[in-house]
Amino acid sequence: MTKKTEFYRDLLAQAKALISDETDPIANMANISALLFNALIQVNWVGFYRVLDNELVLGPFQGQVACIRIPLGVGVCGTAAQTATTQRIDDVHQFDGHIACDASSNSEIVIPVKLKDVIIAVLDIDSTKFERFDQNDQIGLESIVEVFEKSLTACEHGLKKSQLI
Ligand code: SME
Repeated sequence: MTKKTEFYRDLLAQAKALISDETDPIANMANISALLFNALIQVNWVGFYRVLDNELVLGPFQGQVACIRIPLGVGVCGTAAQTATTQRIDDVHQFDGHIACDASSNSEIVIPVKLKDVIIAVLDIDSTKFERFDQNDQIGLESIVEVFEKSLTACEHGLKKSQLI
C-alpha cells in the first residue's frame, strides 16, 4: 500500500467516525470540510457548494471568504455539477471560465455529491500548488464523498430541514 493510499484509508475512517452518528447534512459538511482542511497539505480552501434553485450556493467551508453563488455550468464547480463528473484541474488558469475566489489558488479538484442520481452539492478543494491533486487523491476524496452520500440517504429528514432537497 502506498503512503497516499494509507493516508486516505485513515482519513476515510475518520470521516466515517465523524458523520456516522449525525443526520444533519450541514453539520456533516462542516465537519468534513474541517477534517480535510486540516489533514491535507498545500490546501488553501475546502468546502461545499449546494445546488439550490438551479445554481450553486456557498455551504460550509474552511478558508478565505468565497464567492456565494455560481451558475450551473460556470467555473470548475459549475462544470462538475452540470456534468456530474469530478473535475481535477492541474492549472486553474488554463480552465476556461475558472472563478478565482482566491488569487493564490493554482490547482483544484471538485467532486459532485449525488443523492439518488441527482447532484445536490459539490465538494471543492483548492491548492496554491500546481498539479496538487493526482489520481490517488481523486480516488481517496471520492471515497470520502461516497461516505457522505450514504449518510444523505439515511437522513432525508435532515435534508428537508436543510432545504437540500
Ligand atoms: N474556483 C471555483 C470557485 C469556487 S472557489 O474556488 C472557492 C470555480 O471555478 O468554480
